[in-house]
Amino acid sequence: MHPHATGQLSNLLYDVALAAKIISGYVRSAGLVDVLGAVGHTNVQGEEQQKLDVLANEVMKQAFGNTGRVSIMASEEEAEPILAANGAVDGKYVLLFDPLDGSSNIDVNVSIGTIFSIQKRLSEHGCGNLVDCLQSGRSQVAAGYVIYGSSTVMVYSAGHGVHCFTLDPVIGEFRMTNQNVSTPPIGKYYSINESNFTRWSPGYQQVVRYFKGVEGEGLGKNARYIGSLVADFHRNLLAGGIFMYPADSKSPKGKLRLLYEASPLAYIAEQAGGAASDGKRPILDIVPSELHQRTPLVIGSRDDVEFVERILREANATPE
Ligand code: AHG
Ligand code: MN
Ligand code: MN
Repeated sequence: MHPHATGQLSNLLYDVALAAKIISGYVRSAGLVDVLGAVGHTNVQGEEQQKLDVLANEVMKQAFGNTGRVSIMASEEEAEPILAANGAVDGKYVLLFDPLDGSSNIDVNVSIGTIFSIQKRLSEHGCGNLVDCLQSGRSQVAAGYVIYGSSTVMVYSAGHGVHCFTLDPVIGEFRMTNQNVSTPPIGKYYSINESNFTRWSPGYQQVVRYFKGVEGEGLGKNARYIGSLVADFHRNLLAGGIFMYPADSKSPKGKLRLLYEASPLAYIAEQAGGAASDGKRPILDIVPSELHQRTPLVIGSRDDVEFVERILREANATPE
């Protein structure tokens, strides 16, 4: 497909796999080694940092900072972009990541994950910079996630379909277990934190009534909400389903972050035949203005996303 490829992107994906193996090792020995609990301060998001957040963040910085392939990185756990120790000037790629997604589930042994997004740097000369990080999801060259669940699975796409690799603990390597994943157009599940119901707009309240089967024809969907975006997304990707984290009166721009949560998963969703929107427009079309900007997120089975957008349009067209 890419006769002029230098192999740098392939090697970068191997770097992701290495980081995933190391983080998986810590996750699998949580409780036996001192990686549980909070570190006692908050991160740039204003969230209490867990030890595993910090550890996973350090692993990612180490794994990508010294390869010469990456120029600049942005992490959920760091206020500012991080220049690669080796490659700041020559590195072709930009890496954006959520090192540990689902932090509230770490101490209770529920699936968590790592999310990554790979962009090409825009700047020709000098070190990578913030502008290199603020590119729309549409220009990602690859993206994916690792889910530390009943097994450790790395899911990625480089623009030619979505592929899954399961970590084989016997040989310590990822082996392909699912190729060209295609997500069902209508899903079995809907995932949303219903404790926020009173804070949603009437449109989202109407959507959830439909999904519960309270309104409209036919049976509703099954509710599943794990509280780790990666785990909820992965289940919906394979089985069909929709995940929503709306903007609400508490989080007026939504809770989830665009650059290293919504965009990479939107890239995977679209590559698998699904869709991802902020309720109005494709996530991948949003041009970021800030590193840690948040966005409402509606992601998963294509027809379900389109249904949500229609209900929200009709609700907005109807005077309250
Ligand atoms: P993170 O642990 O990286 O901060 O992400 C947590 C996110 C996401 O994983 C999950 O879908 C969402 O927070 C859950 O939020 P609520 O607990 O508000 O439902
Ligand atoms: Mn997260
Ligand atoms: Mn996180």
